[in-house]
Amino acid sequence: MRTGAHNSPRPARPAPALLAALNGERPDRTPVWFMRQAGRSLPEYRALRCRAGVPMLDLCLRPEWAAEITLQPVRRHGVDAAVLFSDIMVPLRLAGVGVRIEPGVGPVITPPVRDAAQVAALTARRYGEGPDGAAGVRAIGRGAALAVAELGSPAAPGAGATAGPDGSAEGAGAAPSARSPLGRELDGRELDGLAHSADKAGWTPLIGFGGAPFTLAAYLVEGRPSRDHLAARTLMHADPAAWDRLMTWCAHLTGDFIATQVEAGASAVQLFDSWAGSLSPADYRARVAPYSALAIERARRAISPTTGGPAPLIHFGTGTARILAPMRDAGARAVGVDERTDLAEAIAALADSAGGPCPVQGNLDPALLGAGAGVLERAVDACLEAGRAAPAHVFNLGHGVPPNADPAVLTGLVARVHDSAAWARTAAEPWEPGDGAPESAADREPGA
Ligand code: CP3
Repeated sequence: MRTGAHNSPRPARPAPALLAALNGERPDRTPVWFMRQAGRSLPEYRALRCRAGVPMLDLCLRPEWAAEITLQPVRRHGVDAAVLFSDIMVPLRLAGVGVRIEPGVGPVITPPVRDAAQVAALTARRYGEGPDGAAGVRAIGRGAALAVAELGSPAAPGAGATAGPDGSAEGAGAAPSARSPLGRELDGRELDGLAHSADKAGWTPLIGFGGAPFTLAAYLVEGRPSRDHLAARTLMHADPAAWDRLMTWCAHLTGDFIATQVEAGASAVQLFDSWAGSLSPADYRARVAPYSALAIERARRAISPTTGGPAPLIHFGTGTARILAPMRDAGARAVGVDERTDLAEAIAALADSAGGPCPVQGNLDPALLGAGAGVLERAVDACLEAGRAAPAHVFNLGHGVPPNADPAVLTGLVARVHDSAAWARTAAEPWEPGDGAPESAADREPGA
């Protein structure tokens, strides 16, 4: 037991930078995470996928595996948040919809939902009443809770937490040890990543997410990825009553899915309206935004055991330059901006929303990850500079990490955003993590 702990109360630890920024504050360092940070850009992800040997959506329902994959980019990159390894299609599966992720294609839904009768059949289904049953929903919550156990909370610092509230290396050198959700001993570099991520707060937020009603409906109606979502937009106008039923159902479904994650410990959430940019602003306002607001309202009723409150929500879409204000006014705390929109223009448009200025997230072009160090650094600095015009800025890419991105470039990017020479040195060192397998005697070096 540490002496002195009783007679000198420690200063309270600050909130994690991500939560401070979502609260409209300017933390010591600009928080950064990456959409699709858990995924094919990481060799450790590819190794686990291979070893699991099950389809993507099945893997999402295996809590230890989902937690392990969620934690991989935090250990490696030292990002300011984890994002649950799952998919916007998972709640459809949990409602018994025939959905799969086809490699090289994307989500495929059979049969597609094209007319009023098919909408009626779909909307008779309920979250948690598919073949996976309530166990499927519990698996999502358990995966989130296992990730939070390693990431920590205000009450219980994370596995990598060594710094005291004042940044001192309190406890460092005490040979911290932690087992990953799959039972492997974490190595020193992984603990360093968790520690860099947790920083002075001592813990790292888990971001939960869901697909916005329109993006879910676009997949349901089209049946597969589509360029312009023509069939979905046709249904919207051809049969407004069926559209209302479909969108209301999607809003409840995704709201429930987000609530599952928040109630298991996620402390922030993101609503992905990836395809909202294919709509006219008038259609977005009248026929889409009210349902996004319904989903957000449902999500906001969930209380996170990590923070004791509801989870602030980031509303993200691509090609959304002309609908940023209604996205904000759907109830978002912050708005995510893609690289096709100028960040300064986005900040100005949001300032004109009914809700007034709000924190922004984004918006480095993912293409720049492969453009060379000099070009990338200038773009990162320009993005940080542009972000200063907003009440707060969460650094991110304009869309997901491309599968061929070099992980070392991403770690270096985190160091640059954090203005951390120490983390840049770590980022420059070559490292290959374990693949998540529990250590077996056969894996150990002879004599070790
Ligand atoms: O790291 C993270 O961001 C967390 C996990 C996450 C995934 N999908 C994992 C995933 C998140 C947040 C998503 C969201 C998602 N899924 C969206 C919205 C974001 C966006 O990109 O606009 C959409 C539209 C989907 C639907 C979906 N799922 C697509 C288009 C794909 C890619 C298909 C392909 O083969 O390229 C998926 C599969 C998927 N979701 C993978 C991952 C890691 C790849 C699975 C694999 O092949 O290993």
